[in-house]
Amino acid sequence: MPFDLTKVIRPNILALAPYRCARDDYSSGILLDANENAYGPSLPVEQEGSLNRYPDPYHVKVKERLLQLRKVPSVANFFLGVGSDEVIDLVIRVSCVPGKDKILITPPTYGMYSVCAQINDAGVVKCNLDVEEGRFQLKVDEVLASLKANPDVKVVFLCSPGNPTGTCLTHDSIRAVLESGFEGLVVVDEAYVDFVDHAEGSVASWVEKYPNLLVMQTLSKSFGLAGIRLGIAIGQPDLIQILNNTKAPYNIGTPSAQIAQEALSEAGLQKMYEYRSALIDQRNKLIDSLASFPVPGIGRILGGNDANFVLVQILNAENQPCNERSEKVYKLLAESKDVVVRFRGKEPGCTGCLRITVGTPEENATLLARLQEVLTIV
Ligand SMILES: Cc1ncc(COP(=O)(O)O)c(C=O)c1O
Repeated sequence: MPFDLTKVIRPNILALAPYRCARDDYSSGILLDANENAYGPSLPVEQEGSLNRYPDPYHVKVKERLLQLRKVPSVANFFLGVGSDEVIDLVIRVSCVPGKDKILITPPTYGMYSVCAQINDAGVVKCNLDVEEGRFQLKVDEVLASLKANPDVKVVFLCSPGNPTGTCLTHDSIRAVLESGFEGLVVVDEAYVDFVDHAEGSVASWVEKYPNLLVMQTLSKSFGLAGIRLGIAIGQPDLIQILNNTKAPYNIGTPSAQIAQEALSEAGLQKMYEYRSALIDQRNKLIDSLASFPVPGIGRILGGNDANFVLVQILNAENQPCNERSEKVYKLLAESKDVVVRFRGKEPGCTGCLRITVGTPEENATLLARLQEVLTIV
């Protein structure tokens, strides 16, 4: 059966007459239509970029640059959000009837899917990844069975590379969900995709083929721009239009859009690739150092290491992954050693695990030294 967007999107959203302003029709001349301040921004030093004016609601120039980078056919395939976190919320909001519909997630996974579901009063169906041996892959048959058993699921969130798994889902498994006949949306969160150094990376180009696919990316990770809050959704134009109709009219501010445009220029991209290589290099060095740690207590590094962090087990005296010790290490690192990592031991398949973001060479050296100190104490 062909995918029918009208079956996924809530009727009130389909019927929405989006907010319109005079500038949708007329954008030049003496602009006395939007109750802006004609005298200008109240800043001590003049800034570039007409900050007294409302921003472009769609930021087409940013999208034109993304288009070249991500090999997607048209600017109509892009939605820009206040981080991918806004996209997650919007996707749930446009598709899930509160108190009735649900999302499906595959733990261990990014926490905001469930948080946004709860905010929108949508249920959460969980179908854990195959966590044996730190594989962190979809159990496709179980996902499909779960979708059949829960017809109210409107959105499946797949995270690839996953957080906290650092592992790309196989393209075959993503394709299997897309082609399963599931009538809802399949969101593939690719926040960390630029750190993948093998062929099974982004599925963004698949949006041409699959109308039920929405790929999320962000400038927060590989581009090092978490501060500007710019998330990206890539999908077919009718789905993107729904997101545009529903968002706040001027969600992305002018300074964020200007910085995004610079980051997506040729010089910006060169810098991104440079940092990306350096981070991958540091990731490999960090893994090597953890794998041959000078004191006992470091276990396996789990997952595929496809992102800018590693997931490592802390062991007890019996060489078993241990949450109690891991949490102590986490706390001591933060409270006495000035190094903050993330304890993830309570996630399925992550017993005893700390998630360590790859830092600069100096930061990684300090982390390793202080981790060694802490492991001799706790
Ligand atoms: C998997 C995943 N998706 C999305 C986000 C949020 O990204 P953004 O900064 O674009 O909101 C994160 C941030 O940690 C993440 O790990």
